[in-house]
Amino acid sequence: MKNLKGKTAFITGAASGMGRGMARIFAQAGVNVALGDIDVASLEAARDEIAGLGVVARAYLLDVSDRAQMYEIADAVESDFGRVHIVCNNAGVGSGAPALDETPDEIFDWMFAVNTMGPINGFKAFAPKLKKHGEGGHIVNTASIAGVRIAPGMNNGIYAGTKFAVVALSVAMQDAMAPHGIGVSVLCPAGVDTNIYRAGRVRPERFGGPFEREISATMAALLKQGLSPDQIGRYVLRAIEDNDFFIFTHPETREWVMEWHARVMQGFDRADDLRARLGINAPPQPDPSKMRKA
Ligand SMILES: NC(=O)c1ccc[n+]([C@@H]2O[C@H](COP(=O)([O-])OP(=O)(O)OC[C@H]3O[C@@H](n4cnc5c(N)ncnc54)[C@H](O)[C@@H]3O)[C@@H](O)[C@H]2O)c1
Repeated sequence: MKNLKGKTAFITGAASGMGRGMARIFAQAGVNVALGDIDVASLEAARDEIAGLGVVARAYLLDVSDRAQMYEIADAVESDFGRVHIVCNNAGVGSGAPALDETPDEIFDWMFAVNTMGPINGFKAFAPKLKKHGEGGHIVNTASIAGVRIAPGMNNGIYAGTKFAVVALSVAMQDAMAPHGIGVSVLCPAGVDTNIYRAGRVRPERFGGPFEREISATMAALLKQGLSPDQIGRYVLRAIEDNDFFIFTHPETREWVMEWHARVMQGFDRADDLRARLGINAPPQPDPSKMRKA
């Protein structure tokens, strides 16, 4: 999508971190911004900051995991701005949980509701509005490098599970939106210097309410050494202009993904071996993606 000046972007998680970085960079490019977030104080401060950059900026108090609220906000944004062109489903939470079997049920519910259902809710609420005006548009879903690679021993399986789902859904969104001139990107960064380690403070009551947690010194150091939210904003703006699907902001993480894929391939080596040893003679599976095209 080119010529972004004067267009409108809706960003979730816009009060802090990467969402706020996207808002700043979009505003500098002349894009009007509708900011959605659950943290009212930071949201208002962000709105004032973005309005100070000379674009129209409005704040919408929103819990992305609340489907009904997302539909209401989508209507409100459309009525306030007219046409919405860019939707960034960015709000997300992390949690330094104990071992998986000891992790409370509410942590699973909360993380999947925000990180996975949040982007689904944003997509379902805004896609019809982007299609309707026919001027094209772009949807950016924030996953993570943890959405394309999972490392044993890191105890971040819930987070990775929520983000793998975002990558898979983004492929399906791209399929659905391409015929309407609407692009889709999935943002997969490694460390970014944000407030994500304080995500517990905005956990909604129905998932157990706010909590504070200490993060490990290693994690704190990793985040501090990360990219800045504005640098992420610049990557996102460029991906929208160039219609890139994957947004990898840390090229060195290619190695991490290759390690993960090597583990998947080891599983296939074992499958070859087992088929031979068990004497199972099955006809080869046709590739469903090729069947569809045929
Ligand atoms: N920081 C990193 O290193 C990193 C790396 C990869 C991916 N991510 C992802 O980036 C996204 C943005 O996170 P960040 O790092 O900027 O963290 P952040 O905590 O600085 O910002 C996240 C924002 O989302 C808001 N939010 C949380 N729950 C919400 C809800 N239910 N409804 C609406 N808003 C809600 C928070 O109030 C906050 O303003 C998340 O999806 C996160 O998973 C972060």
